[in-house]
Amino acid sequence: MIRLGVLVSGRGSNLQAIVDAIKAGRLKAQISVVISDNPNAYAIKRCEKEGIECKVVERKDFSSRKEFEKELSRILKEKGVELVVLAGFMRVLSGEFLKNFPDRVINIHPSLIPAFQGLDAQRRAVEFGVKFSGCTVHIVDESVDGGPVIVQAVVPVLPQDTPESLSERILKWEHKILPQAIQWFSEGRVKLEGRKVIVEGARYGELPVNPALEIFPCFR
Ligand code: GAR
Repeated sequence: MIRLGVLVSGRGSNLQAIVDAIKAGRLKAQISVVISDNPNAYAIKRCEKEGIECKVVERKDFSSRKEFEKELSRILKEKGVELVVLAGFMRVLSGEFLKNFPDRVINIHPSLIPAFQGLDAQRRAVEFGVKFSGCTVHIVDESVDGGPVIVQAVVPVLPQDTPESLSERILKWEHKILPQAIQWFSEGRVKLEGRKVIVEGARYGELPVNPALEIFPCFR
């Protein structure tokens, strides 16, 4: 079973989606450790409730980003983490950190990247007036929300949408595509060819999720 290290900064609804998918038997993975860079993150409460080990590592307690990331790496290595999942972790990780987990750090982002990378993606989508947005799970590289795309889900943007209503519509799909992407890693089906990710044996070409969901069949 693939050992996960989940990094969070806030509410932790994506963390909860991973936990729920594991509990439901859809996702064959174990969460070895959760790390929060924010001592007030609601994700910490979720860990307490679920009996998951959670460590708080605050940037302000370290003299440099390098030292902060060293501590993150140390914990993740100590716990034998095989895949690092950024689930609402609001920090950019350096190449030096990523070298410790080559092509094994993934992130969920609430837009169809490369559109609206960075902060406030949903608000910017509403303000720009795009007619579709969505969410992306991608492999993390040194860019901000710009690494190789594993899977994307598309949602419509409505004339009356607010950043909140769009966020809610997108979040429903985040909670599906993130556990699904992890399951593909756990099955060893994620292959990187240049900057293109191919999920072996996956069904490509359907809407709203490409490649299609497998572990949530009713959402296909
Ligand atoms: C999610 O919408 C996630 O996609 C976004 O933060 C939110 C975290 O929610 N991440 C980013 O914007 C990363 N650039 P959660 O804490 O409830 O999972």
